[in-house]
Order: sequence, then structure tokens, then C-alpha cells
Amino acid sequence: MLSSRGKVNADQLDIPWRFALGTKYDLETNPLGIILLRNRRYSAGGPRFPAVLTTHLTEYFPPHEPLVGTDIGITSAATALHEVLAYSVAEPRGGILTSWPFYGRFELDFGNKAQLKVVCPETYAETCFQPDVVQVFEEALAKSNAEGLKIRAPLVVYPHNPLGRCYPKDTLIALMKFCEKHQIHFISDEVYGVSVFVSGEPDVVPSTSDLATDLTGIIDRNLLHVTYAMTKDFGADGLRLGALITRNEQLKKAFLAVVRCRRTAVASKFVTGRLREMGVPYLTERELVDAGVFLHPVEEHSLVLGRFRLVYIVERSIVDEWLRR
Ligand SMILES: Cc1ncc(COP(=O)(O)O)c(C=O)c1O
Repeated sequence: MLSSRGKVNADQLDIPWRFALGTKYDLETNPLGIILLRNRRYSAGGPRFPAVLTTHLTEYFPPHEPLVGTDIGITSAATALHEVLAYSVAEPRGGILTSWPFYGRFELDFGNKAQLKVVCPETYAETCFQPDVVQVFEEALAKSNAEGLKIRAPLVVYPHNPLGRCYPKDTLIALMKFCEKHQIHFISDEVYGVSVFVSGEPDVVPSTSDLATDLTGIIDRNLLHVTYAMTKDFGADGLRLGALITRNEQLKKAFLAVVRCRRTAVASKFVTGRLREMGVPYLTERELVDAGVFLHPVEEHSLVLGRFRLVYIVERSIVDEWLRR
């Protein structure tokens, strides 16, 4: 389901660290296991922000299947998010299918780093929302694939930029079925998801997120990915936060492998404070490993023996147990 480069990234998360002996700590299932103070379960921002975002999304995009924090990967706004997504699902010189008119920066977002081409069949503002647009997509996919530009996903913006309208449910379902048929991904850019209002225009289609759709018999849930960001709905262009909402475990891994977490002042204060309190100037690697604390000797290439890098962006309970040991 992923591109070869996405798969390499996803698999990378499962490679055991060279010096990690024994099994991994888990409070419930393996309390005596080795503690690795590195973060592989959460993307940038730790576990709390995705959890808070589920509350927001559950309120405004009522999902058919309940959302949990680990269904959400955080990165710096939608632009970066699309880049990581493109990289993970498509090979270089693959294609993303969308309809005219479309938000022009997509060519850069999907093109610059991931090297995808945005493929646009001839569609018009008056017709691109109709369910039979899928026929045009079918033809465009066949043509593009035959020319060696393999289509990996259609991209739907919902509500649409620049047209400011929502797709009728029938159209979205037809496009999802199209993805299921070709086993390609369905990308729903919902950065304007909460910015809908009652315009009073006739024939207006009400807004519902693709997360609200019951996917049974329509599309494999692993193929649907919704992208979200703070920039539009919160009018916060400078707040570079974007969210990939997906149930695809492989994609989550590929995403986490490239979206690194940041240290926070709070975590730093907690750990250094506790180390000072405990009067711990120095511990040998052997002592730490014997106590069930994972160390990765020489990884940080210090010339001074006995120094190591302490990574502490995991749940506080795990850091606490690490310090206790
Ligand atoms: C449809 C759509 N998607 C994505 C973006 C990029 O959003 P961000 O500023 O969060 O990177 C924009 C910005 O205008 C947009 O209109």
C-alpha cells in the first residue's frame, strides 16, 4: 500500500537498536523490560495534542468510527503534511489526481520533494462536483498510467478551494469506490472543514467530513487519509500545525519515521531537576543497562567516555521509572 520509500521508512521503526538487549518495557505487560527513552509512538508534539485534537475533530467532523490520538500524526501545517504523505504513498514520478480548478500550490507541495505530478483531467467548476466526474477520473487514470505516470491517489479538497463548495456525498462515495477498485489512496484535504457557513444559496450541499462516512463496502479504511491544519479554521497562519488522520498502521509508521519529535522545556526541567535532586553526576553504561535502562554506546560520538545523550520525550511515567532504576 505504501511506496517503496514509505515502506523503508515504516520498516525502519521496527529495526531493533544494536545495543538494546532483552525485551521492551511496558508498565502492564512487561514491567521488568528495558526502558528506551525515545519516542516512537507519537509524532511531533507528544501524545497530548493529538488527544486534544480528537475532541475538536469529534465535535466538528463527527467520525463514523471513534478517533483516538494515535490515529493522528502531527507535523508543521498542511503543506509539510502533504509532502510527507506524497513521499509515503507514491514513488517519484507518480501522480496525484485532482480536478480543475484546484489550489495551485499543490503542484509544489506534492512536487518539490516527493516529485509527484498533479494530474488534472479537463473538468469545470460547473461539473467537477457531480458523481459522474468519476468517469473523467477513470479516463485520466488509465491515460496517465499508460504513459508511465502511475496515479496513487485522487485529492479532494473539502470544502473546496477555490470554489468554496462541498462535494455531494454521492460524488465522494463514487470517488472512494474508484480508489477501492484501483487500490489507490483517497486523500481528503479538510483544512477548511470547520469554516463552513449557511450561505442561503439554493442547492447548497451540507458539509460532512469524509471521516463521517461509513466505509463498509465502499473503501478499505486503510486507504482513506484526511489532512487537517490550524491555518484556516483557526485563522492562524503562523501556527504551523497540521494533522494526518489515518487508520493505516503502516502509513502511521512511515509518517513517524520522518516527523521527529521536539524536546520541550517542561520535560527538560523535569529530568534535569530530578537528576540534580538525585545527585547523579555519572553512571556507567554497564550499571544502567544492568538496571534495565537502555543505553546506546558511541551513538552520539562523544570523545569523552561515560557521556551519553539522554532522550526523554516519552510519557512521564516511563521517564520516572527510568530515573528510579
Ligand atoms: C486547500 C489547501 N490545502 C492546504 C493549504 C496549505 O495550508 P498550510 O498553510 O496549513 O500549509 C492551503 C493553503 O491555502 C489550502 O488552501
